[in-house]
Amino acid sequence: MSSDSRNLRKLHTVADAERLAQQRLPRPVFDYIAGGAGAELTSEANISAIRQEIFRPRMGETIGIEPRDTKRSLFGTPSSLPIAVGPVGFTRSMHPLGDVAGARAASVLGIPFCQSSMSGHTIEEVGAAAKAFWYQLYPLGGRQGGEQMMQRAASAGASTLVVTMDTVVPGNRERDLAYGAALPVRVNRKTMRTMTKYVATKPRWLVNAARDRFQFPLANTHGMTRDGRTLREDEALMYWIVEPPTWSDLAWMREQWKGSLVVKGLLTSDDARRAVDAGADGIIVSNHGGRQLDQTSTSLAALREIAPAVGDHVEVMMDGGIRRGSDVAVALCAGARGVLVGRSWVYGLAAGGEQGVQRVLEIIRNDLVRTMQLLGVRHIDELGPDLLQSAR
Ligand SMILES: Cc1cc2nc3c(=O)[nH]c(=O)nc-3n(C[C@H](O)[C@H](O)[C@H](O)COP(=O)(O)O)c2cc1C
Repeated sequence: MSSDSRNLRKLHTVADAERLAQQRLPRPVFDYIAGGAGAELTSEANISAIRQEIFRPRMGETIGIEPRDTKRSLFGTPSSLPIAVGPVGFTRSMHPLGDVAGARAASVLGIPFCQSSMSGHTIEEVGAAAKAFWYQLYPLGGRQGGEQMMQRAASAGASTLVVTMDTVVPGNRERDLAYGAALPVRVNRKTMRTMTKYVATKPRWLVNAARDRFQFPLANTHGMTRDGRTLREDEALMYWIVEPPTWSDLAWMREQWKGSLVVKGLLTSDDARRAVDAGADGIIVSNHGGRQLDQTSTSLAALREIAPAVGDHVEVMMDGGIRRGSDVAVALCAGARGVLVGRSWVYGLAAGGEQGVQRVLEIIRNDLVRTMQLLGVRHIDELGPDLLQSAR
């Protein structure tokens, strides 16, 4: 057995994967993942809000060894779990296979993979690696660039377009500022020079990154055009920053996109209703893992406001703070159709590439199944508010 597989077998929790990621990554890359905006109140509160919930298990209802049914369709995509792998930018700086590794691992588990617009791999590469493929849209290159990405995503088999609305500017990630990196954090040859002291102690990362020729591109801006002219990466970024999506853009995207259209990053029922009015099929309640505006409501609190407000015909997922299977159970009991995992999967990626992501997803899946057994439920449809004390 290779030392890699031995190390991965020693991972029993997402926290173990986080520790291994911290050992392997240069500090600026680790901090880019782990950090939140401002005083990091929201990124921490997302986790503690979930953990403050108290289960009310039912005894004597089911037999422990009975199989549990965890299948659920998410925005029309069949999934073996009420979980999708969420969009995370710059994953190629964490492991050379980045989103391709994540997509392959998600496919092994039978769950959707959502690629970020800030990906180091092309839509076509990731679409080919994912059995169930979603694409997260930041309109890099403005409306014209956004349209080109939507067409490519549709051709690459994406069933769901996830439009993230909470990123009009990047949040104030104070950890990143300490490294003098430009926002969004980029690891390229220039910043590598300032990072030498952090990189020198991480030979494994360095060898991998060198083999990858230190390529951490915004791969999906390559070949993007505007008014017939090919854009550079920085120009594509600039057009997104000056033209972040508004509700009228969402209505326009609805006309362009034939699959499921989902809005990510909403925290109030008013915004959720606007999204639905503009044609969204679903909502992902999210504060971006506490990386955008600090001191917002936690994802769990916002879920409780939004889910009842939009009605049954609009699917509502949640992300933020999912580190265990029991966290997934709490979110479902509180009204989520499913959850996205963010930092959890990229800790697995940094710890061990595709196998590392697979390990993390299995840890969460196994814990969800055990939690269901201990709660006395057979099917995830039975996870409802009556299993939480807060509903009383
Ligand atoms: C390093 C990092 C990069 C991210 N990049 C994106 C992105 O490009 N697009 C996006 O919609 N969300 C992005 N997110 C937010 C995640 O999709 C998700 O909302 C968040 O990570 C959930 O919180 P959690 O990490 O506590 O699970 C990013 C999150 C992290 C940690």
